[in-house]
Amino acid sequence: MLDEIKRLENISIRLESDPGKRAKISQDIAQFAESFLQSLQDRKAYVFSKENGAGLADFMPQEEARSTESILSVLDKQLLESGLNPASGGHLGYIPGGGIPAAASGDYLAAITNRYATVFYASPGAVRMENLLIRWMCRMVGYPKNSLGYLSSGGSMANLAAVVAARDAKNITPKNIEHSVIYLTTQAHHCIDKALRIAGLATCIRHFVPMNDHFQMDAAALASLIEKDKKDNLNPWLIIASAGTTDVGAIDPLDSIADIAEANHIWYHVDAAYGGFFLLSDKVKSKMNGISRADSIVMDPHKGLFMPYGSGALLVKNKNDLSRSFYYQANYMQDAIDPNDEISPAEISPELSRHFRGLRLWLPLQLYGIKPFRAGLEEKMLLAQYFYKEIIKFNFETGPEPALSVMIYRFVPEKIKNNTAAVNTFNESLLTSVLEDGRVFISSTTIDGIYWLRLAVLSFRTHLKHIQILLEILREKTSGL
Ligand SMILES: Cc1ncc(COP(=O)(O)O)c(C=O)c1O
Repeated sequence: MLDEIKRLENISIRLESDPGKRAKISQDIAQFAESFLQSLQDRKAYVFSKENGAGLADFMPQEEARSTESILSVLDKQLLESGLNPASGGHLGYIPGGGIPAAASGDYLAAITNRYATVFYASPGAVRMENLLIRWMCRMVGYPKNSLGYLSSGGSMANLAAVVAARDAKNITPKNIEHSVIYLTTQAHHCIDKALRIAGLATCIRHFVPMNDHFQMDAAALASLIEKDKKDNLNPWLIIASAGTTDVGAIDPLDSIADIAEANHIWYHVDAAYGGFFLLSDKVKSKMNGISRADSIVMDPHKGLFMPYGSGALLVKNKNDLSRSFYYQANYMQDAIDPNDEISPAEISPELSRHFRGLRLWLPLQLYGIKPFRAGLEEKMLLAQYFYKEIIKFNFETGPEPALSVMIYRFVPEKIKNNTAAVNTFNESLLTSVLEDGRVFISSTTIDGIYWLRLAVLSFRTHLKHIQILLEILREKTSGL
């Protein structure tokens, strides 16, 4: 047996290269990353490719090691040469993720040190770091002392946990589910619908609240719906509002909705996955008045804090609302949870072992300070405003003036103006032209049968020149029509 252990050890120790080889691998990878960053200004924001990463199938894990060189060359071709390049400043579609390089250094350290950011006992430093970041966000939204939350993998998972916490706080069970009512608008992100289904709430009644022409929830209509539902012996229990919708960046009237939620004892959730970090700017605070009155809030660092994908956050006003849903004890964890410690993510979230998400946020905030984040967000808002004003000059139709940094627009050629289908097709072809050019990437949406092009300015690398490129392409494709 001892011989076999030795034989296996001789193979398994390859997982830890000797210091010289390890340094060389790190160096090669760092060089690859650096040349990617340096090539960004020449890389397209979108690449059409026939290959689409299919060559990865010839590079399946095999028994023996491959060279770093061959691995990096496959990554270069199969990963970077097709589809959207979210690291590009030209990414103006969907909700751009950022990916500030210092966050990658945080991830690197998180993985190398592999701190267990799940229970305080295992890594007091990691848990404190994450909780302090969460408390910083709680202060940003105006939450009181008893608030807390945790860093999630993104907005969808954070919204799911919020819905579960709301469900348990309002005691929604199979007995009352079918006469319990949720209020939201058709502009709520589809992950909310998904969350409701996953949380076993698909059979709740969903009332879609009418919106004004800025795509904001009509608070008076909400109040009337609730009043009527109560008269009909239904159970209104959850309102889901948005602080920055995905389609148009609309912010619902959060304060008026809070009045209604409070008066009717309804759980009030605000999805601020996209819009939340704009609160760093004083210019936005008044637009989000009332957000502090929500029972739960989602805000995504991988949107408004320019983090790489994999960074969301759920905040709740009363931390007991998370413990109610997510606290568990297990015999094998008996040494790990002490009620006198700092609260651990394991006690208030669905996960146990998890990525140490805090370090990728903490490091860039320390290295650069908050100032450039705020400036970046204010710059993005102004870029969206600038685009809005310019595109009108080119005779484009627009949706509402951007409240943050997302807006919709479309071109209606004179000759086909009465033919909605033809106008839709024309705008689809505009989008294709922008993608074929590739310097910038845009996406689209359909609202009430109308196809709209979208502008979403949120990458920290997006600057005036990217907006000007888009304007130039759109003007060229529509002039004289
Ligand atoms: C308003 C809003 N909520 C939720 C989400 C989902 O977030 P994630 O993609 O991080 O799961 C998005 C994504 O764009 C969003 O814009």
